[in-house]
Amino acid sequence: MASLIQYERVRKIYNSGNDEVIALEEVSFGVEPEEFVTVVGRSGCGKSTLLKITAGLLPATGGEVRVAGIAVKSPLTNIGVVFQSPVLLAWRKALDNVLLQIEARGLDVDAYRQRALDLLELTGLRGFENKYPNELSGGMQQRVSISRALIHEPPLLLMDEPFGALDAITRDEMNLELLRIWSESKKTVLFITHSIPEAVFLGDRVVVMTPRPGKVADIMTIDLPRPRTTSLRDDQKFIGYVRKIRERLGVQ
Ligand SMILES: Nc1ncnc2c1ncn2[C@@H]1O[C@H](COP(=O)(O)OP(=O)(O)OP(=O)(O)O)[C@@H](O)[C@H]1O
Ligand SMILES: [Mg+2]
Repeated sequence: MASLIQYERVRKIYNSGNDEVIALEEVSFGVEPEEFVTVVGRSGCGKSTLLKITAGLLPATGGEVRVAGIAVKSPLTNIGVVFQSPVLLAWRKALDNVLLQIEARGLDVDAYRQRALDLLELTGLRGFENKYPNELSGGMQQRVSISRALIHEPPLLLMDEPFGALDAITRDEMNLELLRIWSESKKTVLFITHSIPEAVFLGDRVVVMTPRPGKVADIMTIDLPRPRTTSLRDDQKFIGYVRKIRERLGVQ
């Protein structure tokens, strides 16, 4: 099967004045259709840079990213992106924030209203459609932004530490919810995180990145049963994967 995302020796150098920062040294790997791939690495190792290059929001300095076989040269439209903060419009209700994606694409908003409501239900927000962002908790806001990333049915979802700001309990719940949405809607997911346990819990494979300049240190296949359940976190095999990645990252 051809990879849905293929990174070929991707390099990124940021230039600011005389200063040069090598963010990505050389990154090569593939993400298969319907695969859930997590990327873990220390702060500043180039994870967000890699995501932005994948989405076509930032040009690579060298190498190439291909999505569905086509080199990424401009912002991709047929994807869903979730950033670390929910980026909701304060003056729009939850439902209208989800529909923003449709409006921005010049599509018929009325035709998507039911789907937006269905997504809010899927993400556990039934009854909150007409609340403004400041009436929602952080986790609920993030679920609105996930619904917004899904409404146009993108086959590919790019997520940059989407649960970073959440408390541990909500984060665990959101992990389970995301896996449910992923398995029900058959998407390919590239998910970036700081958290090694989160990377293992969610992923089919975990891409471990070296500190800056970012390179792929290891790609670990996570051979744990699905659907994943919370009790898996106590499983010796799960703990073993976490330990191995910690060692790979040089975490004490
Ligand atoms: N626009 C920019 N201009 C110059 N340097 C940048 C820019 N964006 C990122 N960098 C640098 O590139 C490196 C990688 O940044 P990036 O945001 O990709 O890291 P990250 O792995 O996502 O970190 P974190 O885990 O903290 O989010 C950092 O050293 C950062 O200072
Ligand atoms: Mg980042």
